[in-house]
Amino acid sequence: MSNESAKPVRFGLIGSGGIAKVHVDALARIPQAQLAAIYSVDPVSACRLLDSDSAAAAANDDDVLLCDSVESLLGQDAAVDAVLIATPSGLHAEGAIPALRAGKHVLCEKPLEIQSGRIRSMIAEASQQNRILAGLLPLRCGVGAQVIRRAVEQGRFGRLTFLSARIKWWREPSYYEASAWRGKWSLDGGGALMNQGIHAVDLLLWLGGQVTQVSALSGQLVHTGIEVEDTLAANLRYASGALGTITAATSCYPGLDFMLEISGDRGTAVLVDDRIQDWRFADEKPEDEAIRAGNLGGEIRGGSSDPAAISCEGHRQQIADFCEAVRGSSRDSIIEGDEAGAAVAVVEAAYRSARSGKAENVEELS
Ligand SMILES: NC(=O)c1ccc[n+]([C@@H]2O[C@H](COP(=O)([O-])OP(=O)(O)OC[C@H]3O[C@@H](n4cnc5c(N)ncnc54)[C@H](O)[C@@H]3O)[C@@H](O)[C@H]2O)c1
Repeated sequence: MSNESAKPVRFGLIGSGGIAKVHVDALARIPQAQLAAIYSVDPVSACRLLDSDSAAAAANDDDVLLCDSVESLLGQDAAVDAVLIATPSGLHAEGAIPALRAGKHVLCEKPLEIQSGRIRSMIAEASQQNRILAGLLPLRCGVGAQVIRRAVEQGRFGRLTFLSARIKWWREPSYYEASAWRGKWSLDGGGALMNQGIHAVDLLLWLGGQVTQVSALSGQLVHTGIEVEDTLAANLRYASGALGTITAATSCYPGLDFMLEISGDRGTAVLVDDRIQDWRFADEKPEDEAIRAGNLGGEIRGGSSDPAAISCEGHRQQIADFCEAVRGSSRDSIIEGDEAGAAVAVVEAAYRSARSGKAENVEELS
């Protein structure tokens, strides 16, 4: 390994709210990463974040530069190699594009952005600057999700026929009141599907391939103080011909565990949070019994009722993979911009359908 590739990747973090804390906790657990600088519009919360033990560990004994603007974080003073975007969803492009233009690699929170047009601009900038743009979608790191993905790759489900996901979660009204951006079209880009359900949409695409058509119904049933849906049901058609459904809600007290079901003409699996609940195949293998017994470990939790209950393990894995890609190793494990953005295009089609009352085609990003 060259000296260059042995150096830690120095991160600038934009944002200092709930998920930024998860980023700092994750950085503290990654030897090849270093927290070098932070910028937030709210310097008080940024200082609080920097005072934590995790921030000290993430900084590898160096000082973390507290910046007063994005420009300062991207300028020479901060000496960052890559930028983590942890701002409200509708501001991701606003941080990512200048960062890419300044020659930084970018790892961005979900959803990658709230509009396909902005996502195309981010992808184009990354390509022009020859920098990495990747998304954070930590539910992919769950051991249950990984086991299902391997079975898909091995063709164990046969011809895929039905893939469904359920994020019937609960959020207290205080969740929306705590941050002015949540529940607003301009900054959240939607409600239960764009914010919470995006994880499920991404897993469905990862396992089932491209979705081409969506037909959706949405409602605002409980959280009447917001602009967006708190309850949504959609039917999906995959490019492969498979069908599926997705239900996303923040209106279902006390919040059910995340669930995903995948079936084909040779097998079925059911994932509940990060546990395999059902695992049946026409061609039984010796390892199947252990998978059914639930001996997989795993600590990726979905946050069905409490967004603060999210573990940092998925972020740790995805930031560590991103560091390896930045240092020139394989990019296979990162979720590149077009892949992370594909889930947003499905969400947009669902919203168009809920408005038009018709099935809508999913627009391609490229
Ligand atoms: N991957 C996950 O599991 C997960 C979980 C929660 C949130 N998120 C995503 O993370 C992002 C942030 O969510 P959150 O829950 O941390 O929100 P939050 O409201 O807790 O924090 C947002 C932060 O951004 C800062 N900010 C606002 N505008 C800014 C700007 N223009 N420049 C710099 N900083 C700015 C705010 O001061 C605040 O510190 C969202 O996109 C959300 O979808 C991801």
